[in-house]
Amino acid sequence: MSDQNKTVLITGASAGIGKSFAEVFFKNGFNLVLTARRTDRLEAIKANLLQTTKNQEIHIISADLSNEVAPREIFNFCKEQNIHIDALVNNAGYGNPQSFEKVRWDEHSDFIQVMIGSLTELIHIFLPGMIDRRYGRIINVASLAPYIPPADRGGLYSPVKIYQIKLSEGIHYEYMDQNIFCTALCPGLTRSEFHIAANMPEVANTPDFLWMSSEKVAEQGYEAVMSGKNLIINGWLNKFFALISMIIPKMLTKTVGKYLTKKRMPN
Ligand SMILES: NC(=O)c1ccc[n+]([C@@H]2O[C@H](COP(=O)([O-])OP(=O)(O)OC[C@H]3O[C@@H](n4cnc5c(N)ncnc54)[C@H](OP(=O)(O)O)[C@@H]3O)[C@@H](O)[C@H]2O)c1
Repeated sequence: MSDQNKTVLITGASAGIGKSFAEVFFKNGFNLVLTARRTDRLEAIKANLLQTTKNQEIHIISADLSNEVAPREIFNFCKEQNIHIDALVNNAGYGNPQSFEKVRWDEHSDFIQVMIGSLTELIHIFLPGMIDRRYGRIINVASLAPYIPPADRGGLYSPVKIYQIKLSEGIHYEYMDQNIFCTALCPGLTRSEFHIAANMPEVANTPDFLWMSSEKVAEQGYEAVMSGKNLIINGWLNKFFALISMIIPKMLTKTVGKYLTKKRMPN
């Protein structure tokens, strides 16, 4: 089904899964509002997509989501341009695999703002328009991380991803009767710039069968939110990992987690 005249806002659209979401929504007839810090990347994505059709619009707004005024600035931009946001993909994010106490507090604070503060405010700010128009599709790109053995670090990545999953659940069940669906997307290892940005290049060398493409992850996310699913773990292998982690004793998963952390993560 084509969604002509509907518009999606995608955060973190300059790379990886966000870029793939831009392609998927565009292919399905959506106009796009793309945001990230690297606007040169967004301009290139826009130019590339507009080669296929001139019937859809693409807007770009630069925003650093660690800045607490960013969600309001994005909202004001849309208001000034008379753009109604019908779908929202909260995708921007990164990892920080250092020990909890070694990360400076301002870095932790920025991380919480990107992954929790801005994500939550974007939903809060655009939801009333969705309620008025009785149409909303929201995807929060969470992760498989909370389902699998914990890393041997007190990092904030899994905790914020659990928040995103629980928030998606709450929003979905509160507003689904008003034709507003909210999906927590839980990818496992996905080819993108994520592990380079997190200074974990060695993870890229793990076997190929463990990985999914960002295109496939975004396609599955689009299908899930359009069909009203609240949660999706991408791919059968990741579903299997999530399942066995629930079944086998915690002591064992912790030991495996410790082993993998020591092998894969820098100090
Ligand atoms: N790749 C994986 O294996 C994997 C697995 C599970 C979940 N995820 C989740 O998937 C999401 C997308 O990650 P990805 O794999 O596509 O990584 P990626 O290729 O590194 O892309 C991350 C995106 O987030 C944006 N971003 C980062 N910090 C930002 C900030 N302060 N303000 C605004 N935008 C910011 C980046 O844009 P700019 O740098 O241009 O601002 C970029 O567009 C994340 O939420 C991540 O946690 C990834």
